[in-house]
Amino acid sequence: MKSKYKFSTLAIHAGEEDSPLGAVTTPIYQTSTFAFKNTAEVIEYQKGDSSKYLYTRYGNPTLKTVEEKMAALEGGEAGLLVSSGMAAVSTTALTLVSSGEEIISTEPVYGGTFHLFKEVFPKLGIVVNFVDPEKIEQVELLLKANTKLFFCETPTNPNLKIVDIRRIVEIAKERRIPVVVDNTFATPYNQNPLSLGADLVVHSGTKYLGGHSDLVAGVIVGLKSVIDKAIEVMKVLGGCIDPFCAFLLLRGLKTLGVRVERQNHNASKVAEFLSGQDKVNRVFYPGLPTSSQHNLAKSQMRGFGGMVCFEVEGGLESATKVIDNLKLFINATSLGGVESLASLPVLTSHFGFDQKELQRADVTPGMVRLSCGIEDELDLIEDLRQALEKLG
Ligand SMILES: Cc1ncc(COP(=O)(O)O)c(C=O)c1O
Repeated sequence: MKSKYKFSTLAIHAGEEDSPLGAVTTPIYQTSTFAFKNTAEVIEYQKGDSSKYLYTRYGNPTLKTVEEKMAALEGGEAGLLVSSGMAAVSTTALTLVSSGEEIISTEPVYGGTFHLFKEVFPKLGIVVNFVDPEKIEQVELLLKANTKLFFCETPTNPNLKIVDIRRIVEIAKERRIPVVVDNTFATPYNQNPLSLGADLVVHSGTKYLGGHSDLVAGVIVGLKSVIDKAIEVMKVLGGCIDPFCAFLLLRGLKTLGVRVERQNHNASKVAEFLSGQDKVNRVFYPGLPTSSQHNLAKSQMRGFGGMVCFEVEGGLESATKVIDNLKLFINATSLGGVESLASLPVLTSHFGFDQKELQRADVTPGMVRLSCGIEDELDLIEDLRQALEKLG
């Protein structure tokens, strides 16, 4: 699909191939294995004939459609679909980094990524150094000859901190260190890290890409040469996705633009409303002109996303009261679906963090994280108003 097309046209048409029977949607190739007509075909496959398939963990036509669509939406050469966002993060990191080598990651990052970096990778002999993106100059102290990956997430989970992608790329490129950006919160509709110089983008497809809270998936997009290596790692780590799940993701992707446009709008209205509330101490939303990171966000994002985080007066007790009184926002973790969700980060995405880790991530007990869906903005605001009123 040529890039003369704009975002939503690509979301619908990129990667789609004509079906022999004229089906308008991509069929679900719900099969684990593929038949060869004869041994000559097996040999053609093994020589690299990309029109042939062997086994779904190695590739499948339904998955391929999603991979090509995501590559088009992120502006990358190739994509790889995996079983979850964490599979995307771990497969990418293990493609680029080996035992005895190091990673630099901005902090905060999603709790699962933090645990992978802090607890699991050291067992494999991979050291991860964390840096505060607002003190990025400290990176110079952490860079070593064996630093092989610069990882960041922006906006961050849960409190929407913005990491300056161009600045990180500038530092990393000087030393030829690949930069990987977790673009889950922004979505390719709002931000394309590859166009800012990053080498790879990872996503939890579970969130906005799927968009209906009914699947778990992950995506990696970037240079074909690196994606080819990631495919080899994924094949043996085993984080492949099921064809039916790939189909659901494909279906979700077609409406990504219209959903995210509405979620951008709803979140900005919700953030504005929360900013005027007495019981709310802080509102985290990069689209608010009063946000200290608004200009940075504007310089790398086209829209500011559907996530809003706010901190109420009175800590966990008040935050619990608010969330338990919400009628429309569903008390559930995850994000990015058409329905609005609310969660308490200290009990979900950042559960199990110690005091110092919470402090570094600026995650507090009074925080409520909202994932704004596509309902009517006034209904969402009314729901928040009545729940905040219960604080007295
Ligand atoms: C920013 C971010 N990255 C990665 C993940 C992991 O995604 P998954 O749950 O699909 O493994 C999440 C999950 O919440 C996330 O918020």
